[in-house]
Amino acid sequence: MSQPVELHGRLFHPFISDKRILERTKELAAELNAVVGLETPLALGILNGAILFHSDLIRAFDFSVEVAYLRTRSYSGMKSSGKVEIEWPDDLSVTGRHVVLVEDIVDSGRTLVALTEELLKRGAARVTSVVLLDKPEARVVPYKPDFSGFEIPNAFVIGYGLDFDGLGRNLSSIYQVVEQ
Ligand code: IMP
Repeated sequence: MSQPVELHGRLFHPFISDKRILERTKELAAELNAVVGLETPLALGILNGAILFHSDLIRAFDFSVEVAYLRTRSYSGMKSSGKVEIEWPDDLSVTGRHVVLVEDIVDSGRTLVALTEELLKRGAARVTSVVLLDKPEARVVPYKPDFSGFEIPNAFVIGYGLDFDGLGRNLSSIYQVVEQ
């Protein structure tokens, strides 16, 4: 990953390697192993950004887990629209469940605040959030994830599930924009 990548004419430089991501993901799974008791939680992956993180994280769990996904939207290009749309799947029930929310990144905080409210409204017994990346300086609404992989500066990143207008999700490592 030593080379920069170019997407839609913008340059991104190497930021967090695939090796470091996987090491940290295994540490996060170990921390979760310690808080999940005998229950079988529902690991809810947020599409599309959390696809790779979710799949690596659940494979590192020691406990049994059920898996589900839902889609949210709030970003266009490198900017948050400020509105969170949640597409709730018809067959998803969270009543009485411990939901482990798996998200790629917390930025303004709006997505995880909206999702947590929605899950509790729909009867989830407990919500635990796990995010790979946290940009605390970008917060617009107060939100602190229960588990976080890396705190990063407020600059746009791509790779390992994160995209810039549809591109970059398939990169194994994370890259940061050279100039905002
Ligand atoms: P929030 O609601 O502002 O916290 O934003 C959460 C969502 O915005 C994430 O799930 C991402 O899809 C997107 N997002 C925020 N920051 C970035 C970034 O640096 N790169 C790519 N997507 C981002």
